[in-house]
Amino acid sequence: MTDYEQLCASFRALTDDVPHRIANLANASALLYDRLEDLNWAGFYLMEGGRLVLGPFQGKPACIEIPVGKGVCGTAVQEDRTQLVPDVHLFPGHIACDSASNSEIVVPLHVDGEIVGVLDIDSPWPGRFTEEDQIGLEAFARALEEMLARCP
Ligand code: SME
Repeated sequence: MTDYEQLCASFRALTDDVPHRIANLANASALLYDRLEDLNWAGFYLMEGGRLVLGPFQGKPACIEIPVGKGVCGTAVQEDRTQLVPDVHLFPGHIACDSASNSEIVVPLHVDGEIVGVLDIDSPWPGRFTEEDQIGLEAFARALEEMLARCP
């Protein structure tokens, strides 16, 4: 089980003095990919011109643009809530970037009450993400939001 408290502390230690948002998101994706077990993708899509555009990530190359309301990521934005998907093959409209993915969790990120992007994590294992992972990753998302707010 991931120690999310320690993960948030590591992220803050890595980024507290760094004013560069892309560098900080790149290190966040590396930290997640290194510390969470059984992942095949961890990274970000950022809102740009009303749609999600691929941001820093670890894993195989992924699709570039996702419209709001499409796929797991676009649904997280449309509903403004975390999508915990134990089996992506049962999620209507799931966008398969890596055929190895079987489960996924997507957490929306906000600045000043507006969604600015999503954190997206995939696993080859069905049911990889639990409610505890959701709580931990939502806490990690709050640390990301603090960084995004101070790094425009
Ligand atoms: N599966 C996502 C697309 C992004 S990849 O997982 C990296 C979705 O359905 O939105």
